[in-house]
Amino acid sequence: MNIKEEILKLKETKKAVILAHNYQIPEIQDLADFVGDSLELSKTSKKIEAPFIVFCGVRFMAETAKILSPQKTVLLPALDAGCPLADTILPDQLLALKAQHPDAWVVSYVNTSAQIKASSDVCCTSSNAVSVVKNVPSKKVIFVPDKNLGWWVSKNVPQKEIIIWQGSCFVHEQFTLEELERARSAMPDAVVMVHPECRKEVVQRADLVLSTAGMLKSARESQKKRFIVGTEEGMLHKLKKENPQKEFYSLGCAKTCVNMKKTTLRELRDSLAKGRYEIHLEEDIIKKASIALERMIQYI
Ligand code: 13P
Ligand code: SF4
Repeated sequence: MNIKEEILKLKETKKAVILAHNYQIPEIQDLADFVGDSLELSKTSKKIEAPFIVFCGVRFMAETAKILSPQKTVLLPALDAGCPLADTILPDQLLALKAQHPDAWVVSYVNTSAQIKASSDVCCTSSNAVSVVKNVPSKKVIFVPDKNLGWWVSKNVPQKEIIIWQGSCFVHEQFTLEELERARSAMPDAVVMVHPECRKEVVQRADLVLSTAGMLKSARESQKKRFIVGTEEGMLHKLKKENPQKEFYSLGCAKTCVNMKKTTLRELRDSLAKGRYEIHLEEDIIKKASIALERMIQYI
């Protein structure tokens, strides 16, 4: 039996569901039951009935699944698959910011720890951040932790005062305006789509600013043939697979999130076989963080 067959057999025996983020390696995406962006994966983890979820992604995504479905066993196959962006804000730092702005609502991007979510009023993802901030019942908002997404939200919701934490994603920060200008002159007919975690000057020059699921939808529906993609390189797999007649290119050289690549077929097989690594969160954290996540689902 090869490793893919082993995984499928274990999955059936354990009645597990495999969820994978759009940045996972192609072999994992092709084996998963569902592949999506942070929002789609959160909603799916809540909806599915299987008692076991194996989350091929990074820690905050598996924690989100656990918060939304505390009765299920959630496994993260690669123990050290973290998100450096989520680590840019600590619970004490958020508490200090809240004390400075007691009248503000705290909107936290899902790329945060469970503790940060527990101290937030509502969560958001890259696909709904603008509508969540528009809908919160407060004129003043604390937005954590991504400064580029925070800038994008403040540009689209000018009627609100937004205090933005200055964290960023080291992968998306690597895309430069020079790369974008060079790509545009090489392929003037191509659509440039970028993730809102990219730098402000890159976002300003793009044709479309989208979450990873938004990119897939847009590519599917567009009449255009060529696309330049400003996000983690794992994204190109599904874009090409779903649209074989269209062309997709990384913006500049390919940018890789090492944490997303820590889940290999071997890690996935061992996760299913040995039940590792289970996500455990304190009950109180789950209770508080689920309020912020459930609100997000209501607001969109
Ligand atoms: P999406 O929700 O757009 O998939 O983004 C998740 C992420 O980690 C981007 O770096
Ligand atoms: Fe975190 Fe950036 Fe990797 Fe997304 S691409 S998981 S924000 S480090």
